[in-house]
Amino acid sequence: MLESMAGLKRSHYCSEINETLLGQEVTLMGWVQHRRDHGGLVFIDLRDRSGLVQTVFNPQEDPATHAKSHDVRAEYVLALVGRVRRRPDDMVNPKIPTGAVEVFIRELRVLSVAQTPPFVVEDHADVTEAVRLRYRYLDLRRPIVLKNFLLRHQLARLTRDYFAENGFLEVETPVLTKSTPEGARDYLVPSRLSPGSFYALPQSPQLFKQLLMMAGLDRYCQIVKCFRDEDLRADRQPEFTQIDLEMSFVSQDEILEILEGYMARVFQEILGQRLPRPFPRLTYAESLLRYGNDRPDLRYGLEIQDITPTLAQSQAQVFAEAIRTGGVIRAIRAPGAAKFSRKQLDDLVALAISLGAKGLAWIRLTGDGWQGPLVKFLTEGEKTALAETMEATKGDVLFFGADQAEVVAQVLGQIRARLAQELGLIEAGAHRLTWVTDFPMFEYDQDNKRWQAKHHPFTAPLEEDLDLLVDQPQLVRAQAYDLVLNGHEIGGGSLRIHRPDVQDRVFQALGLQPEEIQEKFGFFLEALAYGTPPHGGCAFGLDRLAMLLAGANSLRDVIAFPKTQKAACPLTEAPGSASPRQLIELGLKLDLKAD
Ligand code: AMO
Ligand code: AMP
Repeated sequence: MLESMAGLKRSHYCSEINETLLGQEVTLMGWVQHRRDHGGLVFIDLRDRSGLVQTVFNPQEDPATHAKSHDVRAEYVLALVGRVRRRPDDMVNPKIPTGAVEVFIRELRVLSVAQTPPFVVEDHADVTEAVRLRYRYLDLRRPIVLKNFLLRHQLARLTRDYFAENGFLEVETPVLTKSTPEGARDYLVPSRLSPGSFYALPQSPQLFKQLLMMAGLDRYCQIVKCFRDEDLRADRQPEFTQIDLEMSFVSQDEILEILEGYMARVFQEILGQRLPRPFPRLTYAESLLRYGNDRPDLRYGLEIQDITPTLAQSQAQVFAEAIRTGGVIRAIRAPGAAKFSRKQLDDLVALAISLGAKGLAWIRLTGDGWQGPLVKFLTEGEKTALAETMEATKGDVLFFGADQAEVVAQVLGQIRARLAQELGLIEAGAHRLTWVTDFPMFEYDQDNKRWQAKHHPFTAPLEEDLDLLVDQPQLVRAQAYDLVLNGHEIGGGSLRIHRPDVQDRVFQALGLQPEEIQEKFGFFLEALAYGTPPHGGCAFGLDRLAMLLAGANSLRDVIAFPKTQKAACPLTEAPGSASPRQLIELGLKLDLKAD
């Protein structure tokens, strides 16, 4: 029954069929979306990447072809030849671009048949994500899924254009390489030719792009796969794509300027939106204080305010205890939250406690005065001062965190996000970008009891903090910046260390022993010693950016063949086992019991 397409050549994509082609013969190739048999006439909606067109088979005019159309089922692949004509007025469908016309078919060839698909290939298919990913090639036929990949393509393309226009050279870097310390776990690949040795898949091309600057390439960019073996979330995948950049002889301001130009172009071309420039800049310290984290969502206010001085003398146990133990008191004013039910307030308190708070005191400002668990402990003076600092008015609720600064930031940061949702403050389609700058150079890793680089160890400390490196690492600030969009970190970068002695001191501050430094980074320190230009750069998460531009909720919606929570591919069933022969060749012996 299958036929060849020999002698036929596609003349148009389905969505291109319109009234300008009336009377013309066209040749279409695609999948059967839908077949309707109206007793006499048969209608087949044919689908390709571009969209749908309605085709018609008439028993009177072409009995043989009409008869053939009866055997056709959903997802069969057809070649159709026919003439474009206007639909009868009552059959016009203004919802699709081809809705005014249909193609009257004289030749049908079945190029391929299809089993009944596990779900209907249309936008509103009732299907779980597990099944969609198992049959991703069917899922991708759905226009709603496909459209994100058109956007992603457009993004990748304009990225290459923009950076090429600005003098960046695209250079590829190795995938089989040495470990780069971005802070996640590496994926390792065993070496057959050096048994017992492993390559690491790159967590980013960080060292290579710096080596390219040392090589004098001046400006580099690459759209590149990166691999990180970390626990997955909606905005993390084990393999993901970066838009990776590096530039020589530039200041931080010059780098940010180029990157803002890039973002402006992205928003203009993809969403048709003009971004106000320059983007706002917040220091890390300020961001933590006002938004509770280093990736603030600026689509809404609800800023956190420090009221430690206002309540420093408070008789309320909760506040007094925080002050006594060197903590802070901070609060959020939630306009309109006085209408919250008791249950809503209790849920917020429970959320705060689940995040590590001891509680979440609140004060409701109603027409009948102030209500809440701690109101009776506040003096009139404190109330007045509080109302003034918080600019509180009737209808508001104030939410309080009293604890060590880090705990309060973490808790109120999340309470702020929840309040924005409950108060409906997030405007659909809004995009708010901000830089976060002046990150600390190091953060303390409680699990391993040591300092680690907040960005990565190649980030340049502020010139004036260099002397603090060894004795007071907690005070060293980095010349590092992140770009944040709607509460997501979409990019991060820094100026780099270009002096071998400074690089060596940073490694030491991280507690690396000289032998370890030599073994891991000897080649890099050596390269730094052969004439390194001052340089810096950044990497954007292409998947994250595409996700946010597409208005999607998960990276899986913008990755053609994504991994699941368990870092598995439901379609190919990767990862899989290795044969004994492969293991022997690699010099590997599995001892899974020891696990
Ligand atoms: P960083 O580690 O901040 O910087 O990564 C840059 C950007 O990559 C994205 N990203 C991810 N996206 C999806 N899944 C993941 N698991 C994931 N991890 C990171 C984020 C992030 O902002 N070499 C440095 C850049 C530099 O200094 O130039 C780096 O990799 O959007
Ligand atoms: P308690 O004194 O523990 O009964 O708490 C009185 C009120 O203060 C309750 O509403 C608690 O949710 C709240 N609360 C307790 N501890 C804290 C804290 N550290 N920060 C903010 N609110 C708290």
